[in-house]
Amino acid sequence: MVHIQRREVFCAAHRLYNDALSAQENEELFGKCSWEFGHGHNFEVWVTVKGEVNPKTGFVMNLSDLKALMMRFVIDPLDHRHLNLDDTFMKGILPSTENLAIEIWNQLCEPVAEFGSLLHCVRVVETENNAVEYFGA
Ligand code: NI
Repeated sequence: MVHIQRREVFCAAHRLYNDALSAQENEELFGKCSWEFGHGHNFEVWVTVKGEVNPKTGFVMNLSDLKALMMRFVIDPLDHRHLNLDDTFMKGILPSTENLAIEIWNQLCEPVAEFGSLLHCVRVVETENNAVEYFGA
């Protein structure tokens, strides 16, 4: 079993704000991340796929195919969007980095499987110092 990784990036705005809480509770919980008009990040998405090496190609999965899936299902939908306001697969979901990793996993799991590979990990890097990894459970 071999793991391969591909990185793509997107720029997006988000606001950490739970509508079920008061404005003051949101401010206490999320600080400046709760401010009204949101703020932006250059998000990195690292996708790890695992499988056996195909003796014909020497690949687990062609990285150009993985790139195409990431662009179609993740980067193109999210790039230059506001994750709280725009109509993307994040709409209605509190757009924490944790929830982004889970929803990106949900976007990619089946498409990767259709190539005969297994999605292993989605890693979302929000800042130089903060990142989240999701392994599907
Ligand atoms: Ni943020």
